[in-house]
Amino acid sequence: METTTPQLIARDLFQSFRMGTRRIEVLRGISIEVAYNEAVFLSGASGAGKTTLLYTLAGLERPESGIVEFEGRRLYSGGSAAEARLRNQKMGFIFQGYFLLPELTALENVVLPVMIGRKAIRNDAEASLAAVGLGDRLHHLPAELSGGEQQRVAIARALTNNPDIIFADEPTGNLDSKTGDAIMDLLLNLARERNKTLLVVTHDARLAARGDRQLRIKDGVLQ
Ligand SMILES: Nc1ncnc2c1ncn2[C@@H]1O[C@H](COP(=O)(O)OP(=O)(O)O)[C@@H](O)[C@H]1O
Ligand SMILES: [Mg+2]
Repeated sequence: METTTPQLIARDLFQSFRMGTRRIEVLRGISIEVAYNEAVFLSGASGAGKTTLLYTLAGLERPESGIVEFEGRRLYSGGSAAEARLRNQKMGFIFQGYFLLPELTALENVVLPVMIGRKAIRNDAEASLAAVGLGDRLHHLPAELSGGEQQRVAIARALTNNPDIIFADEPTGNLDSKTGDAIMDLLLNLARERNKTLLVVTHDARLAARGDRQLRIKDGVLQ
């Protein structure tokens, strides 16, 4: 479904957390529209609410109020099985800090969500790992891979279900700047080649400028 309607729409998102007796208002009325195939970068200080916003947009964290609509479907509307299926089929995630299971090889880490999505399997995962340049590292454990290589595994995993949109939380956060640049190139190129929307959190303003659009979150609102 490719139309001029935005792929992702969020309206008036609010979220707060209790810290002891205090309440921190993390999202204070955030609205966003993201077009199909757009690469949007979200930056902001540590603790500004970037991860909270990304998770809320991805259907992973229910906001206190406000709506999120993805490809014409309202998220957080109760049908959790249907919503999980939608996430599995249409969304890819790259979490902060790789999030690889240490006991599983590169190949197994990439196969895992594919199996959860019940699609056929190993060839897809191998193709994704080859696409990120790890065709010869299929059977290595995360501990046997460099930081950049682990992040490539995380990217391969996000690609494997052939999602429409990829959410990435600080994908270069743990990497030196040269490796970080290469990872960001890889992610942007793969997204462009494969017509995927990209929503990337980064605190690196230099990298954020490389997307189609840059958003900043401060004091719970977008600037
Ligand atoms: N589940 C939670 N419970 C309590 N506080 C939280 C929770 N998630 C996030 N926070 C708080 O909300 C603020 C924003 O967090 P986060 O979205 O992770 O920021 P960022 O990703 O920009 O560093 C922080 O002060 C954080 O401590
Ligand atoms: Mg964060």
